Amino acid sequence: MELEIRNGCTGVDWKTVAETLQLVGMAHYDPDVHRRAFEASHTRVFVYLDGRLIGFGRAISDGVYQAAVYDVAVIPEFQKKGIGTVIMKNILDSLSSCNIILYASPGKEDFYRTLGLRKMRTGMALFRKAEEMKGKGFTD
Ligand SMILES: CC(C)(COP(=O)(O)OP(=O)(O)OC[C@H]1O[C@@H](n2cnc3c(N)ncnc32)[C@H](O)[C@@H]1OP(=O)(O)O)[C@@H](O)C(=O)NCCC(=O)NCCS
Repeated sequence: MELEIRNGCTGVDWKTVAETLQLVGMAHYDPDVHRRAFEASHTRVFVYLDGRLIGFGRAISDGVYQAAVYDVAVIPEFQKKGIGTVIMKNILDSLSSCNIILYASPGKEDFYRTLGLRKMRTGMALFRKAEEMKGKGFTD
């Protein structure tokens, strides 16, 4: 599998980003909303296979000591082939001086554990869709 990693937003098909997030059950918006989010992020990773966008992720950060990872997703038919790991390692490498936080989708914690992340004991969140996020198992 010949993967190409791109870190720039030029030429990204934001419709594919939105559709992939929807397909894997993550928060998804209009393609242009994702464009704005990725463009405003410190680190973006896009994985292509034969020119096809098959996975991505991003981190917001001060670039010095704090960072938060969002929107890590791999198209289902390409999952469990190491692509999520490639995405996360690329993000972690680009932010090597930073503490990294994220909230895993319920059930995906072990994926992040394999990358060295640990569960937070005091994580707090103010979700705008509080009831929906509670229902999905993100909060008490
Ligand atoms: C989570 C996700 C990004 C992982 O990507 P991936 O390409 O399938 O992961 P990898 O193939 O790199 O797997 C790396 C390791 O994590 C493990 N892993 C992958 N998905 C896992 C899961 N859902 N639960 C537990 N372990 C998992 C793999 O078994 C593998 O371990 P190994 O190296 O010991 O075999 C991908 O499955 C995905 O897009 N899921 C839907 C969207 C999502 O939930 N994203 C995360 C939001 S927090």
